[in-house]
Amino acid sequence: MRTQVGIIGAGPAGLVLARLLHAAGIETVVIEARDRSYVEGRQRAGILEHGTADILRAAGAGERMDREGHRHDGIELRFDRRRHRVDFPSLTGGRSVMVYAQTEVCKDLIALRLRDGGPLLFGAEALAVEGADTGRPRVRYRHEGRERTLECAYVAGCDGFWGVARAAVPAALSRTYERAYPYGWLGVLADAPPSHDELVYARHDRGFALLSHRSPTVSRLYLQVPADTDPAAWGDTQIWDELERRCATEGGGRLTRGPLTAKSVTPLRSYVHEPMRYGRLFLAGDAAHIVPPTGAKGLNLAVGDVATLARALVAHARTGDTALLDAYSATCLRRVWQAERFSNALTALLHRHPDATPFDDRLQLAQLDRVATSRPARADLAEAYTGRPLDGVL
Ligand code: FAD
Ligand code: DHB
Repeated sequence: MRTQVGIIGAGPAGLVLARLLHAAGIETVVIEARDRSYVEGRQRAGILEHGTADILRAAGAGERMDREGHRHDGIELRFDRRRHRVDFPSLTGGRSVMVYAQTEVCKDLIALRLRDGGPLLFGAEALAVEGADTGRPRVRYRHEGRERTLECAYVAGCDGFWGVARAAVPAALSRTYERAYPYGWLGVLADAPPSHDELVYARHDRGFALLSHRSPTVSRLYLQVPADTDPAAWGDTQIWDELERRCATEGGGRLTRGPLTAKSVTPLRSYVHEPMRYGRLFLAGDAAHIVPPTGAKGLNLAVGDVATLARALVAHARTGDTALLDAYSATCLRRVWQAERFSNALTALLHRHPDATPFDDRLQLAQLDRVATSRPARADLAEAYTGRPLDGVL
């Protein structure tokens, strides 16, 4: 098979890229290792930055998001049994975020892709990217029990952290930067209406907790746990009791409880691979970088990368100019490192390190108190959380 842009992976990065290129008349083939129901059901992120929602709209994929998603104008921080609201529009000149799950973003984009008739092969596992530094890169993949080759003008490695595309960059040219955290998130889905109308980020001596939303009847909830935790070791009542304890405030109410329908543990990791381009191979999203989930940047970074890549590929197709393609890695990495900085800082602000001393605890509370009482500190948080405008991309 032959195409202009071979896209490995049908996560948010690969699907948004395919959609943006299709709109510009550039032919793509998407190959995805897993089946459709797995990709559509994988529970992950829930918050779309202002700019991400705009990109989905511009790609013609925002209709259900605007109907069923919920605009949130702030978050609540809880610490020391107190609550503090951070109001986004007043601190950022009108920006907000959209609560709309990654599962729904992927469902919408897959439906559009199949409607448009563009090739999207499920159960097609990329084995290697070959010839990335030549004029004719190829993706070797396995589909329906047979090994095949996809010949491309360009390859987009959108295959997530565990994919194969990154391995095509020679080790001598790769630089990686990494941090593993000694804790993870136990994440659950609950058939229970959200207890609070905005997201709650709680710092507690027993660890971090987050109350998030999926719909008016489904809550998404997280607890900081040791990195090697077996989710089955946590019973439902124990999870609700722990969430309630960590989110408790003076005079505050109880959480609305309901049956838990999914339970998993995600380790927290920071990771960046540089450069994000090698020859005609472009890495995007989790294939190139990982942030700890605090602050919900992972999905948004992935969409920012592919919006940048789509613009560069379209400019090249229309004018033959390679300037934007040449700038791709550096353009993305500036934004990536800002997200790494923010995600790391918000993680450190809200999680309890297992080796924390009483001095560390006091410093953490002093930092939180500063966010609660200083407008510039709150504005800094609000600007990073809602995301900076993707200058020139839209
Ligand atoms: P992915 O979504 O990982 O998509 C990559 C795709 O490539 C997958 O469909 C995969 O099956 C496919 N693939 C992999 N290898 C191959 C291959 N060899 N051949 C073909 N296809 C392949 N972010 C947040 O902001 N908030 C959160 O709460 C949050 N929770 C998360 C929980 C978990 C368990 C994980 C893993 C991530 C979470 N993230 C979260 C991060 C966020 O979901 C990711 O940043 C986002 O999915 C990145 O999109 P992507 O398209 O780059 O990668
Ligand atoms: C969600 C995940 C996050 O990492 C976050 O900071 C906020 C919300 C979520 O899955 O809903």
